[in-house]
Order: sequence, then structure tokens, then C-alpha cells
Amino acid sequence: MTMAEPARRWCELGFWLFPGVRGEGRASSAVEAFTDWLLNAHGVKRVFARIHPDNPRSAAVVERCQYQRAGELPDGTVVWVADQPPPL
Ligand SMILES: CC(C)(COP(=O)(O)OP(=O)(O)OC[C@H]1O[C@@H](n2cnc3c(N)ncnc32)[C@H](O)[C@@H]1OP(=O)(O)O)[C@@H](O)C(=O)NCCC(=O)NCCS
Repeated sequence: MTMAEPARRWCELGFWLFPGVRGEGRASSAVEAFTDWLLNAHGVKRVFARIHPDNPRSAAVVERCQYQRAGELPDGTVVWVADQPPPL
């Protein structure tokens, strides 16, 4: 987690892997588990990730984890979000 907005219960997720352990699903598994933990066990309402368009591998990770594309910042950085599910 790199940045939080406590009043909104939003937090930002950043992630990286050492080159020798890429390409095996580790980042996707970790992002999925960590996102689930934040949204379902800690009352976080939105997890977001800011990903540069020149970083398709990072975008692929959050897409695999069901993040939705929310928009673009002026510099082209794409914002992806995962929201807390509505109550049953
Ligand atoms: C971004 C980063 C973490 C992505 O790493 P990655 O290895 O592509 O991601 P994963 O560990 O999820 O691996 C995905 C690959 O494993 C495969 N895979 C195998 N088993 C898998 C499984 N059980 N679940 C998901 N993917 C699986 C996927 O098909 C994918 O294959 P591909 O490489 O042919 O596309 C890495 O490139 C990195 O550290 N980059 C530098 C830092 C960075 O850019 N950070 C992001 C800032 S926002």
C-alpha cells in the first residue's frame, strides 16, 4: 500500500516482483488476496492502482484481479479500482 485516504476509506496499492520470479502468477495471486483482505476484512471501500500505459504487465495483473478501469489522469496514467461489494 503506498497511499491512503482514511476519510474516504480508500487506499492505493502498488506492487512489484524481482525479475527472477515474474511470469508465474505470483503478483496476481498476491494482489487478489491482498485486495480481498482489504475490502472484506478491514472496511476499505475502494482500492485503487495508478498504472502507466507503458506498463501493460501491471495492467494485466489488476485486470486478472477484477479491477475496473476508472479513468485516466492528465498524464495518461490509468486509474484502476476495486470496490467493496454492496451488502447482501
Ligand atoms: C508488474 C509485475 C509485478 C507483473 O509481474 P508478472 O510476472 O507479469 O505478474 P504475475 O506474477 O501475476 O504473472 C503473470 C503471468 O503468470 C501467468 N500465470 C501462471 N499461473 C498463473 C496463475 N495461477 N494466476 C495468474 N497468472 C498465472 C500468467 O498467465 C502471466 O503469464 P505471461 O507472463 O505469459 O503474461 C512485474 O512486471 C514488475 O514487478 N514490474 C516492475 C514494477 C512495476 O511495474 N510495478 C507496478 C507499478 S503500478
